[in-house]
Amino acid sequence: MFEHMQAAPADAILRTMVEHRDDPRSHKIDLGVGVYRTPEGVTPVLATVKVAEQELIDSQTTKAYLGSSGAADFNTAMAELTFGNNDLADRVVTLQTPGGSGSLRVAAGVILKAAQSKTVWVGEPTWANHIPLLGNAGLELKTVPYSDRETHSLREAEYLDALRRAPAGDIVLLHACCHNPSGIDPTPEQWKAIADIIVERELIPLIDMAYQGFGDGLDEDALIIRELAGRVPEMLVCNSCSKNFGLYRDRVGALSILVRDTATRDIVQSQCNTIVRTLYSMPPDHGAAVVTIILNDPSLRSQWEGEVAGMRTRISSMRRLLHDALADKAPGRDFSHLVRARGMFCFLGVTPEQVERLKKEHAVYMVESSRINVAGINNDNVEHLATSIAAVLD
Ligand code: LMR
Repeated sequence: MFEHMQAAPADAILRTMVEHRDDPRSHKIDLGVGVYRTPEGVTPVLATVKVAEQELIDSQTTKAYLGSSGAADFNTAMAELTFGNNDLADRVVTLQTPGGSGSLRVAAGVILKAAQSKTVWVGEPTWANHIPLLGNAGLELKTVPYSDRETHSLREAEYLDALRRAPAGDIVLLHACCHNPSGIDPTPEQWKAIADIIVERELIPLIDMAYQGFGDGLDEDALIIRELAGRVPEMLVCNSCSKNFGLYRDRVGALSILVRDTATRDIVQSQCNTIVRTLYSMPPDHGAAVVTIILNDPSLRSQWEGEVAGMRTRISSMRRLLHDALADKAPGRDFSHLVRARGMFCFLGVTPEQVERLKKEHAVYMVESSRINVAGINNDNVEHLATSIAAVLD
């Protein structure tokens, strides 16, 4: 049967990761896949994760199955991290999932089972995997303008107008913080306007929060979730622990679904369990157990909050470092958007041809759209990076 199969195009982000890995040039720079890096270019295991892993090894007595929704203590801790408290516990179902992608996939499954509408409104641009992931699950994606590639700002009027025209009951996909790929987050006032439309139009928010803590802070980055939680009857939130716990390959995430009442919560919980059972049966546990230990131990939690703050601060200082280096190497060009953006990403603002030249001629890797992961910048490579960028500019 495979003789009829065509090769699938490689995912743009993962292809860049492999191309960089296979490049033998020692001065190569990886601004591709979204992983945090230290000044030494390493994606570290967090110190708190090391401690919690040891504690887990020492105390774990069984690896028997946990069930489709994972560990109850993980789910409670993640709901609290997401909503700021567990006051809505009688209306929230939380499930442990294999990363943020697993969470999105289960969310798609439950929307398809429950909603009258299969339409999801997605700001353009969005994370490269959002549309294929949700689309392959069976949802219908409609794009609306989100950010402007020239001015590197929110296309506020067009975005809000498009949301105003969405029929009641449709889903709206939002990035809670650190918009991937643009780095452009709505201001608190813009979030308020978005929330007002969602409430008025009776739209259902599907919020992807993959970078909590990497923008302005753990609580600040959840602003739109907490604003909407008090105002909408239904909402879905997808968390990833890949970045803020550095647990990328361990695949840790959560899906929280806010529903109208406790009876509905129990029905939704049972449907989620069925969806999970038929997709991957049960989530992996090791990373989630580590997260639970960290979040439930006050001392480890405060140390972890410090680690997240450290990553956030470094990311933002690397934005400034590249901005200043470019001001020197490419005077006359405006790169101020680099410092305005939040989180690990933003568009550099060069063409796909220039991205290709950066790769071929200078060993500088970024996604074709010119999305850069600023965590790949450090004091040792910024000179080569800025010189290379200046060399390919018109
Ligand atoms: C990214 O956008 O680079 C990350 O979210 C990693 C991924 O899976 O795409």
